[in-house]
Amino acid sequence: MAARGVAVVGAGYWGQNLVRNMAQLDRLAGICDASDAVRQKMARSYPKARVTGDLDELLDDPEIGAVMVVVPSSRHHEVARRALHAGKHVFVEKPIALSVSDGADLVRTADERDLRLMVGHLLLYHPCVEWLKRSIDAGDLGEVLYLNALRLNLGKVRSDENAMWSLAPHDISVALHLLGTSPTHVTAQGFCYLQRRTGIEDVVFLTLRFGDGRAAQIHVSWLDPDKKRQLDVVGTRKMVTFDDMAASEKVRVMDKGVDGVDQLDRAPSYESYGDLLTLRHGDIHIPHIPMREPLRAECEHFLHCVDTGERPRSDGHSAVEVLKVLQAGQQSLEAGGVPVALSPSPGGLRGPRA
Ligand SMILES: NC(=O)c1ccc[n+]([C@@H]2O[C@H](COP(=O)([O-])OP(=O)(O)OC[C@H]3O[C@@H](n4cnc5c(N)ncnc54)[C@H](O)[C@@H]3O)[C@@H](O)[C@H]2O)c1
Repeated sequence: MAARGVAVVGAGYWGQNLVRNMAQLDRLAGICDASDAVRQKMARSYPKARVTGDLDELLDDPEIGAVMVVVPSSRHHEVARRALHAGKHVFVEKPIALSVSDGADLVRTADERDLRLMVGHLLLYHPCVEWLKRSIDAGDLGEVLYLNALRLNLGKVRSDENAMWSLAPHDISVALHLLGTSPTHVTAQGFCYLQRRTGIEDVVFLTLRFGDGRAAQIHVSWLDPDKKRQLDVVGTRKMVTFDDMAASEKVRVMDKGVDGVDQLDRAPSYESYGDLLTLRHGDIHIPHIPMREPLRAECEHFLHCVDTGERPRSDGHSAVEVLKVLQAGQQSLEAGGVPVALSPSPGGLRGPRA
């Protein structure tokens, strides 16, 4: 069994949440941050943890078995790589890295050393996404045709990455997880309003096209009046909306659809198509889904994987699939929205873990 201690590297806006969770789970052993002010604050709040600006101090500590990397994305590869080379299990925030080759390098390094590598695709630990996955896999929605995701808010504006890299990893990871496959083509269109000089897109519309005709549309923005976190799943039998901003009753299952599509082949003429199709407006069902904080579930899952050797649900392999979509999306953005083809991964997407 790995040493129990966990170190968190980067205790800024997001990292402090991981620090809090690891402390509450009684596993926090160290905190590393480049900022004096952050270190002072952490030392006051967590007097039992070793707080330092020198990562090697924590990497050399045999009591620390795992490292959580919560530094800006441009540093993920470098910091995660150092931790893996020091023999530590690694949790790294999304996106795993900024290039597919860097992401693949982390996966290879972890695999060669038999270390767990988990990526912070937080929504995969959301009870509503878990519920959706079970429903889709059980065939309750029929065949899923397309997904539509919104991740909008006013802020947090970032200057080191665009809205796609900052926000879309969540929705891409959910789309790949729910559909169980990677897209064949990615199209992205982006718009800069706040940082025109540096060309950082504030608003991005991303379309993922899958080989079997299914699609996922993702709209992300940090320049929007309302905070929206929504996912619609359109299946042939049922349609679902998941509204993460709703205080309760986040998921609604609608017995809505269009019947008669399978009859169309037998239609005598195009003009008679409409007669064969009937709109179905059935009942709306609100399932009871017990809630728990996704971040706590994510942290517990990481510790479970470190302690047992189990492969994480959001492991490095699946994170590289997400990264391929982001990289293709960036290419498409830069080319003004042309579709970019993705080469299929050998062996495809690995099956999800329950
Ligand atoms: N899962 C989520 O929902 C979610 C939400 C927000 C941010 N994030 C991710 O968390 C990561 C951090 O984002 P943030 O908003 O907290 O950024 P931030 O700038 O607020 O914090 C980063 C911290 O890392 C420190 N740092 C930078 N380089 C370092 C290094 N080499 N060694 C040690 N410390 C270093 C900085 O001093 C700072 O305190 C990003 O990858 C981001 O994508 C995830």
